[in-house]
Amino acid sequence: MAVASKEKTWGNYIGGEWIPSESGKTFESRNPANTNELIGEFASSTKADVDTAIQAASDAAAGWRDTTAIARAAILHKAAEILASRQADVGRELAREEGKTLKEGIGETGRAVQILRYYAGDIQQPDGEHYPSANPNTLLYTTREPLGVVGVITPWNFPIAIPAWKIAPAIAYGNTVVFKPASATPLLAARFVEALADAGLPAGVVNLVTGSASTVGDPLVEDDRVSAISFTGSSEVGRKLAVTAAKRGAKIQLELGGQNPAIVLADADMNHAIQHVMTGAMWSSGQKCTATSRAIVHRSIVDEFTQKLLDKVKNLKVGDPLDESTHIGPLISADAVANVVAGADRAKSDGSELLAGGSRLTDAGREHGYFVAPTLFANVDPSSQLGQEEIFGPIMGVIPVDDMDEAIEIANAVKYGLTASIFTRDLGRALEFAKKIQTGIVHVNSETPGAEPQVPFGGYKGSSSYSREQGKSARDFYTQIKTVYIDPPPAS
Ligand code: UN1
Repeated sequence: MAVASKEKTWGNYIGGEWIPSESGKTFESRNPANTNELIGEFASSTKADVDTAIQAASDAAAGWRDTTAIARAAILHKAAEILASRQADVGRELAREEGKTLKEGIGETGRAVQILRYYAGDIQQPDGEHYPSANPNTLLYTTREPLGVVGVITPWNFPIAIPAWKIAPAIAYGNTVVFKPASATPLLAARFVEALADAGLPAGVVNLVTGSASTVGDPLVEDDRVSAISFTGSSEVGRKLAVTAAKRGAKIQLELGGQNPAIVLADADMNHAIQHVMTGAMWSSGQKCTATSRAIVHRSIVDEFTQKLLDKVKNLKVGDPLDESTHIGPLISADAVANVVAGADRAKSDGSELLAGGSRLTDAGREHGYFVAPTLFANVDPSSQLGQEEIFGPIMGVIPVDDMDEAIEIANAVKYGLTASIFTRDLGRALEFAKKIQTGIVHVNSETPGAEPQVPFGGYKGSSSYSREQGKSARDFYTQIKTVYIDPPPAS
């Protein structure tokens, strides 16, 4: 049954059709910059919808597995072309639904295009290895095969790039997918799936089910027909899903939080470091698991660094993401705003020095959105909440240190380990940092966020589950290895 109007009311995409939830219910997606503005209504799905989607993915699995890699690559290329042709419109919708700026929204849509192209190429690379055998007549080789049905659970902060970097490799390597996007950004999930469908992806290969974590996410992770789960989101939810998956022996990868440091040494190019610390902390309203939360700065330059950073932070324009002069849009929700304000209040009571921000902005033009002033603290105690926890907003603290050893010790003294930067001209120190820092991603003289599709992405410690996404790591997750011994039949 087709859904009445695809403009405002979207169904699930199951078995190649847009169909309403069996609940008959929908939920709303609203613009976080102006909550009077409805983005669309989406299926409020139940366990029964998840069951239908998993069955559709199971039914499609054998046929999709048996298509050639070359045929799958052609579909991914076509989806990339289609999405590229829609980049301006989809990027704008991204800014309206998620709240990052128009430039970032268009950029992120371009990133999804690039990811589709990368996996279209990667799937045409060798998929196994030939080995010598102890037996001179044995042909001994490995090949990679898909896992089957994969569950993909994505967050709202990269509403098209993260679905792309999970779903593109999943289907490229021959799996079928049930996709549960974050409820704050279902439109962008639908736009990604629509591009795949318009590219001719066979029915059932990717199935979209929108709705809550408890009625959609949990049943997906609990179902024995689902071989593997890829999850990006909070540590709390990720750990819970890992237990569920482990109980039934499913494969799972987790991308969780970060508390990312940028170390600035005395010899750094000061203006370059300040610019990258500022953008790393504030762009996308700081709502990246890779965002910079701590600037750990050599004491001899910390006053000048902090003053110049403050000047930049104070000049940031917070407002409508569609206005080209805006630097920072809204946060995703009222809860996110409350969390940042509570984090700032706590930092004050912990003795950190508030230099800018710390409160919600509700003046004219911002009264219907979730805006927070970019927030900067100085003299932050590394063991305080601001120095330890992921707050997920435009908030950061400066920590003065006496030398690089102390900086690295503080940088590592958190439960997370996603990404870290150092700013220095000293190659020896940069190399030492790259060796000693306990993070999955290391930047020298560039900001902590960022992830190119051809290299592994993921963190140490509490930031991941010892798994990596993207690049060849995606192949490791979405395939299993078969080792084949072939001996000729005995001569008769
Ligand atoms: C980036 O830094 O550009 O959820 C990507 C997140 C990360 C992705 C970061 N998984 O913020």
